[in-house]
Amino acid sequence: MKWVAWAPGKIILVGEHFVVHGAYALAAALSKGVTVYAEPSLESRIVSAQTGLGAVSLDDASDQLRPIVAAVKATLQHINEKRGVNVNINSDLPRASGLGSSSAVAVATVAATAIALGHKLSRSELNDLALVSEKMIHSNPSGVDAAVAIHGGLILFKKNTPVRQVRLHQKVELVIGVSGVERRTGVMVEEFARIKSKFPHTFTAMVRSSSRFSQLAAASLTKKDFETVGLIFNYQHTVLKNFGMSTELLDNMVEEALKGGALGAKLTGAGGGGSIIALPPRRGVEQVVTSLRAVAADLFVTEVPSEGVRTWRLKD
Ligand code: MEV
Repeated sequence: MKWVAWAPGKIILVGEHFVVHGAYALAAALSKGVTVYAEPSLESRIVSAQTGLGAVSLDDASDQLRPIVAAVKATLQHINEKRGVNVNINSDLPRASGLGSSSAVAVATVAATAIALGHKLSRSELNDLALVSEKMIHSNPSGVDAAVAIHGGLILFKKNTPVRQVRLHQKVELVIGVSGVERRTGVMVEEFARIKSKFPHTFTAMVRSSSRFSQLAAASLTKKDFETVGLIFNYQHTVLKNFGMSTELLDNMVEEALKGGALGAKLTGAGGGGSIIALPPRRGVEQVVTSLRAVAADLFVTEVPSEGVRTWRLKD
């Protein structure tokens, strides 16, 4: 019997990097994500169409699959299961693009593995098991990516604090521009943290500012005050750029989005490549998309909020 789990990718609207150091981040689930098929088997095997890797037994995983293998092993141990599982991972998220692909893979794989073997995990179990994989990808994850993949919606996230769902009265459209440049989250997180040792007081002040901006952006979205949200995006992009997290291509993408009439635009996720998000004005999505198309490698429009992880049984 085959089971399926789906988990969304994510965008960070406000507060990437600062969230690692204790600030609130405002983050949302994407409508794109990762689908994982799983069924019980004598020995465990993982196939990832995403990485182009064929069937891999748990003991000879390549570097790319090792974090996910670790999450599967931790899940089998957690549910005290002696059987194995066949896992097939399919993603419609661009890899290493700041859109939460690795967390969505981890959450969907853990959920599919457990349900295929007869266990429905709680959100907190899912989170702890997905973080086994996240910690192998970069040593100091805030946990925001996994929290979005699990809870879905639009969330205010702060480390070691219960996730707060932000309720919206209407869906909000955002344009996502993908640079096509891959980058490693861990490298960017380390680079960002270097500023802390150089300017500790400025750094702490900026963590507090960023935290307040996340809360302000959440309240503004609830009140449909999109102008304020756009202004916060623009300000945040400049701050992240000054902290060395942007690139010329990301800056050009932000510029094109604003030229196309976006109320605000900023890099999203770790930066150094990856993606930007832009908030189009009402009935202005097409113009932002057309303008951004001139420089982005790929783009799509997403609606916030979208749902979090779900599992179901595949009909025979
Ligand atoms: C990566 O999606 C977001 C960062 O803030 C890292 C993290 O929160 O773990 C850059």
